[in-house]
Amino acid sequence: MINDEKVKKILFGGDYNPEQWPEEILEEDMKLFKKAGVDVVTLNVFNWAMLQPSEEEYDFSRLDKEMDYLKANNIKVCLATSTAAHPAWMAKKYPEILRTEFSGMRRKFGGRHNSCPNSLVYKKYAVRLAAKLAERYKDYDNIVAWHISNEFGGKCYCDTCEKAFRVWLQNRYKTLEALNKAWNTSFWGHTFYAWDEIVVPNLQSEHFEWERSMFQGISLDYARFSSDSMLECYKEEYEAIKRITPEIQITTNLMGFYKELDYHKWAKYMDFVSWDNYPSTDDPYYKMGMDHDLMRGLKDGLPFALMEQTPSVTNWQPYNNLKRPGVMRLWSYQAVAHGSDTIMYFQMRRSIGACEKYHGALIDHVGTGETRVFKECAALGAELEKLGDEIIGSVVKSKVAILFDWDNWWALEYSAGPSKELRYIKEVSKYYTALAKQNINIDIIGVDADLSPYQLVIAPVLYMIKGDYHKKLEEFVRAGGQFITTFFSGIVDEHDLVTIGGYPGKLRELMGIWVEEIDALPPGEANKLVMTDGRTYSAELLCDLIHLETAEVVAVYGEDFYAGTPAITINHFGQGKAWYVGSSSSQEFFFDFLKERLEEIEINPIMTLPEGMEVTRRYKEGVEYTFILNHNQEAKEITFDQAYVDLLKDSIYKKGEVLNLSAKDVLLLKASF
Ligand code: GLA
Ligand code: ZN
Repeated sequence: MINDEKVKKILFGGDYNPEQWPEEILEEDMKLFKKAGVDVVTLNVFNWAMLQPSEEEYDFSRLDKEMDYLKANNIKVCLATSTAAHPAWMAKKYPEILRTEFSGMRRKFGGRHNSCPNSLVYKKYAVRLAAKLAERYKDYDNIVAWHISNEFGGKCYCDTCEKAFRVWLQNRYKTLEALNKAWNTSFWGHTFYAWDEIVVPNLQSEHFEWERSMFQGISLDYARFSSDSMLECYKEEYEAIKRITPEIQITTNLMGFYKELDYHKWAKYMDFVSWDNYPSTDDPYYKMGMDHDLMRGLKDGLPFALMEQTPSVTNWQPYNNLKRPGVMRLWSYQAVAHGSDTIMYFQMRRSIGACEKYHGALIDHVGTGETRVFKECAALGAELEKLGDEIIGSVVKSKVAILFDWDNWWALEYSAGPSKELRYIKEVSKYYTALAKQNINIDIIGVDADLSPYQLVIAPVLYMIKGDYHKKLEEFVRAGGQFITTFFSGIVDEHDLVTIGGYPGKLRELMGIWVEEIDALPPGEANKLVMTDGRTYSAELLCDLIHLETAEVVAVYGEDFYAGTPAITINHFGQGKAWYVGSSSSQEFFFDFLKERLEEIEINPIMTLPEGMEVTRRYKEGVEYTFILNHNQEAKEITFDQAYVDLLKDSIYKKGEVLNLSAKDVLLLKASF
């Protein structure tokens, strides 16, 4: 699907559920697909009950017909394994496949994503189904990818998981002594003397709320274990399919900043990343940009697939307003601008019953191609047809990276204190937003990523330093890199145990400071950041009380008993610089602060544009593709900084030429370099 020889264009289509309709619907659908330029469908996502009516019986007859029909109509297939919702008979016969909730309540049959990831029965039948599908359809050359399960997620707290958790812990810690140490169980007399004394951390045990745990160590390990358990389900299906169709790529649809799964770990087992983008209609463009950049970063910048987005409306938000005319096209190109090589929807045809009957689709309940949504989709389909393979395989390159780490996310937000307002994504997005507004490409990377392509690395609230990660950062800065980190960083190790000897722990030498105390400011209260040139900004959320060691002052606090003490510092370290931002602040601060950092190291905006316009760039063999997206409600003027060929409007622009770009419109500009 991605970098696949069979694919010479941006694939266009999405989730297709013909099983919800009479067989004859295929004919009608094919006509409409052709009209809309649809060339790929994700098939068989929730079909387990149809494919396996009982324990002994499999029935592929309907799917066979669909597969043949699609092939005959030159539609490519992203073939799903249907294992995200088990059949009712299976739940009745083997109740142990059902999940137990955080509250301890055992579920009955219902919903989806409802199978216990550690149930051997569930896994046996899931893997068997995946293998049968691979065996049966292996010769269909229109299969462009396998789609395992669907949006893996959630957690289970059943007895099977409890037992599996103990085994996972034994593998991790080997001895109870090591486990007791890692969880600091001497606190509140929690010492364990036998593995089976350990129970799952939920409302019945260590938690008093979803994210409030009395023992962070066990909760953090349960988060890791849950992510690993689901990954194991994915891997078992992956391996079964790979054995039969080694040449077909395999993926599963991810969900952006989805907390329950450590996607950096997952991506290692995915042939390409695909993900489902469901923003609220009032989300700012840089929120979606940040999601896309996270997803692209999972595979070190390789193109990804936009597996799902709604063509118009969702059903599950509190207020499901319509994507306004032009917005679907704009957001589709935004995905491409950030590295997607597909534009796909949920769903092709709107269901008539159950909870997604009011979810948008290419084909609405009226059943024709005469709707606004269908026409907008068809216009996009035609555009993609014309674009051909132009940008396929081109990559986004960036000199600036933001570090994002799931363990850090979990540990930080399980933390009791210093402030319940401290949210990892919120702090990361402050930096991301400020960078996005400087009109540059941004990478979001994990701790395994190579730092050498970057000039600037930002690690907001790097609370947890796993292993020797600080050494990687030191090396990066020593060699000339610029590094920014913030308050509440370097505090704990990978077990969430505090590194003693002064914060920011293992980052102390690199940052050239030590932090003695941390002051939490309730919402609505602020201190001040007073820059050495006298400019002031607000200091919010947390204020680290900093002592200088080798660092110098960039800003001091303006108020309270720590007025005049360092708030922002810079440490010259080897050839590079390490900045410590001791407090959170306003968007204005982040914008100015990062603008200065970028100017210093000569990272220039891709183009200077009016507010509310986004620009990104993808590169391929001597060609660069610049995407300009007008997210505003009105037209905006842009001045071209060089000559470009516009691939969507078939125009040529000269350097210095001015263009009035309509609201929600997109430019895809080609230039050689
Ligand atoms: C998710 C699922 C789809 C569908 C959509 C609705 O992305 O993968 O099956 O439920 O949400 O928005
Ligand atoms: Zn379970």
